Amino acid sequence: MKGAARLFFMLALAYAICGMVLGIYMAASHDHSEMPVHAHTMVAGWVMSAIFAYFYHLFPAIGGSRMALVHFWVQAVSGVVLVVSLFFLLAGNEALEPVTALASFGFLAGTLLFAWNAMPALKTA
Ligand code: HEM
Ligand code: HEM
Repeated sequence: MKGAARLFFMLALAYAICGMVLGIYMAASHDHSEMPVHAHTMVAGWVMSAIFAYFYHLFPAIGGSRMALVHFWVQAVSGVVLVVSLFFLLAGNEALEPVTALASFGFLAGTLLFAWNAMPALKTA
């Protein structure tokens, strides 16, 4: 794996490990108050990043482009800010709500960038 594919796969593994550690903590403590953080870390983090990684691996011309790197950084920064700020928001730090909201729009922007990058594959595959 190279370029954006490699970066997304490393990010996916980091989400998987952090999300499962949180899941085990939730199960062991019987405190499920951080469940949305676990759910989004696993699905919006691990699963989506792995899908992006495999897409860019399957289409190396797109994966090696500058736009794929732009997509990676927008999706990675907003996604990590999203789950970390949501963690502290659910722990009672309500001042973080605007940060979580902004990160959500960043995450959507990342997904729109991916849709844009993926268009050529739809035409040629
Ligand atoms: C070490 C492995 C894992 C543990 C210990 C774990 C633990 C948990 C716990 C305790 C809950 C809360 C259940 C509730 O309050 O109803 C939960 C929910 C959830 N988990 Fe995990 N989990 C693990 C792995 C995963 C994986 C691999 C995924 C997805 C790829 C995942 C996705 C979810 C989702 C989407 C929810 C929310 C379900 C709902 O909306 O009711 N989890 N998990
Ligand atoms: C713009 C980013 C997103 C925002 C603002 C958002 C917001 C939300 C909200 C408000 C809930 C309800 C939480 C609750 O009732 O406690 C939720 C649940 C859920 N979302 Fe998202 N979501 C986003 C992206 C995603 C993505 C990309 C996925 C999967 C690929 C996803 C998967 C889920 C799942 C599995 C649940 C049910 C588990 C739970 O209740 O925490 N979300 N989301």
